[in-house]
Amino acid sequence: MEEYIQFVKDQINFVPDFAIVIGSGLSTMLDKVKVIKRIPYREIPGYPVSTVKGHKGELIFGILSGKNVLIFNGRVHFYEGYTMRQVTAGVRLAAGLGTKNIVITNAAGAVNKALKAGDIMLIEDHINFIFADNPLRGEKGTERFVDMINAYDRDFLKKAVEVASRKGIDIRKGIYCAVAGPNYETMAEMRFMNRIGIDAVGMSTVPEVIAARFLKMRVLGISCITDSIFNEGDISHTKVLNIANQCGKTIAELIESFLREV
Ligand code: HPA
Repeated sequence: MEEYIQFVKDQINFVPDFAIVIGSGLSTMLDKVKVIKRIPYREIPGYPVSTVKGHKGELIFGILSGKNVLIFNGRVHFYEGYTMRQVTAGVRLAAGLGTKNIVITNAAGAVNKALKAGDIMLIEDHINFIFADNPLRGEKGTERFVDMINAYDRDFLKKAVEVASRKGIDIRKGIYCAVAGPNYETMAEMRFMNRIGIDAVGMSTVPEVIAARFLKMRVLGISCITDSIFNEGDISHTKVLNIANQCGKTIAELIESFLREV
C-alpha cells in the first residue's frame, strides 16, 4: 500500500461515500460542505503538491447532502512534471479508504462551437491525447486491461441530467479530450479536435478516470467551460480562473442535489 494511504488512515477513521476532485478555480463549491477535518497535502508523506495558481492543496473530509465526502481541493497535473502515478495519487487514496464513487470536475476550453464560457458540460465520454504516459503503465496482471466502455457511469449521468433539469440548471453533455499541456492549443489543433467530434479540451481528468475505472469506482465527470477560442479568439489562465469561479457555484449546487438523490 502507498505510504500516503496508511498515513491518512492513521489520521481519520472515515469511509467516504464519494470522492470529489475540484478543478481550477472551482473551490467556491466548498461553501456547502460541513467540514470534519482538513489535511494539507504537504503534510502527507509521498503525496504530490500542486504548483498551479487556483489550486489549493488539501484533503477535506466532510458531509455534503448527508453523504460522507472526501474532497480533493486542488489536483496535480502531468504538465507540472509529476508522473502519472503521482497524478492519480488522489484516486488511489480514495480507493484505499474504501470509496466507491467519484465526481471529477475540471476547467475546459470549448471545442464545440455551440459551447461558450460559463457553460457546464457533463462528460459523456473522453479521448485521451496524453500519449506520453499512462497511469496504469507498470501495473501487473490482467486487471490493467481496463474496460473503458461507459467509463462515465450511465446512471450517474442520467441522475445528474434529471437533477439539473429539476433545478433549472442549464447543462450540456459532451466528449472531453485530455492533452498534456501546459500550452493551450493552436488554431489548427482546435480545428482538428472540432472535426473529430470533441466538445471540450483540458489538461486533467482522463488519467484520474482511467485510474478510477481500474480501481472499480463509478465516475461522474463535470467540465466548466471557461473559454472558447472560436467565439472569443484568445485565452489566458486568469480568464479561465475568473469563469471557473462563477461556474463553481452552479456546479456545487448540481453536485449537492446529485448527492442527495443518488
Ligand atoms: N485548452 C486546454 N486546457 C484548458 C483550456 C483550453 O482551451 N481551457 C481551460 N483549460
